[in-house]
Amino acid sequence: MSAQFPVARPRRLRNSAAMRRMVSGTRLDPAELILPMFAKEGISEPQPVASMPGVFQHTRDSLRKAAREAAEAGVGGVILFGIPAVKDARGSAADDPDGVLQVALRDVVSEVGDALVVMADTCLDEFTDHGHCGILTPSGEVDNDATLERYASVAVAQVEAGSQMVAPSGMMDGQVGAIRSALDQAGHAGVPILSYSVKYASAFYGPFRDAAECAPQFGDRSTHQQDPAGPLEEALREVRLDLAEGADAVMVKPAGAYLDVIGRVRAEVDVPVAAYQVSGEYAMIEAAAANGWIDRERTINESLVAIKRAGADMILTYWATEVARTL
Ligand code: PBG
Repeated sequence: MSAQFPVARPRRLRNSAAMRRMVSGTRLDPAELILPMFAKEGISEPQPVASMPGVFQHTRDSLRKAAREAAEAGVGGVILFGIPAVKDARGSAADDPDGVLQVALRDVVSEVGDALVVMADTCLDEFTDHGHCGILTPSGEVDNDATLERYASVAVAQVEAGSQMVAPSGMMDGQVGAIRSALDQAGHAGVPILSYSVKYASAFYGPFRDAAECAPQFGDRSTHQQDPAGPLEEALREVRLDLAEGADAVMVKPAGAYLDVIGRVRAEVDVPVAAYQVSGEYAMIEAAAANGWIDRERTINESLVAIKRAGADMILTYWATEVARTL
């Protein structure tokens, strides 16, 4: 074998930590991390979420404190979910000006509203007694157009409570357009919409349904959320429709198992692309790390770097504050 062989040696650019740092193209920035948070009505102590160690259902005080910590760590935004004390078929608490999410938004905006972006998840499943994301027909189907009217009202209530961006997550057809026109008519044309455009009917949401107490009481979400086995073109169609309806940024969810989708969406659109590293992604890493089976910090970092490399401009992650502190 000749001494020159091989000429191409990729290892040359890996030969020191300084070399690796210089050539690595993917760097996380705290400003692109978004922390999901849960506000629960009527509790006096934060409640740990059993399937998501380290995540809490917050009291008003603990929510403020956690938002402050996120801001101090340089996190770019928080997205709030509300868990009302009383639920009903139409999710009345969702657009009540004194409902748990509106109270939480006012609290967090007054605490940190200049330091990061405060946004609300716009959906009904945390607020309905049946756990579905909308109004049901007598036969138990989610009624698309009746639900749009509710989302429009919910989004207006959220913005009037201080939400600086709304994020509709219910996968109803036309939801972005309905919310956009309701916000415009209410004088909020300047408030952007981050649409959960591409959202799969995923088993990875399991722990979230404990955290947000929103498991459907019957049936599932497969008539509105996308089939994980569906074609990539379906994701692109959802994105194009949302942009045509006025979405300012789009989201892909879950993240880790859908890196190909994130990459395709990033190539397709000219708006920011967010990806949601969901509860099951969090729970799997925490559980394996708690057993000593993987290195917790390295795995968290790698999972986030992969999402960014795939094309996400923003990442929703329950580790936002912790990771931001290390950057
Ligand atoms: C719906 C919503 C869900 C999540 C975010 N928004 C639940 C669902 O669609 O069933 C899941 C987030 C996660 O799993 O971390 N309001």
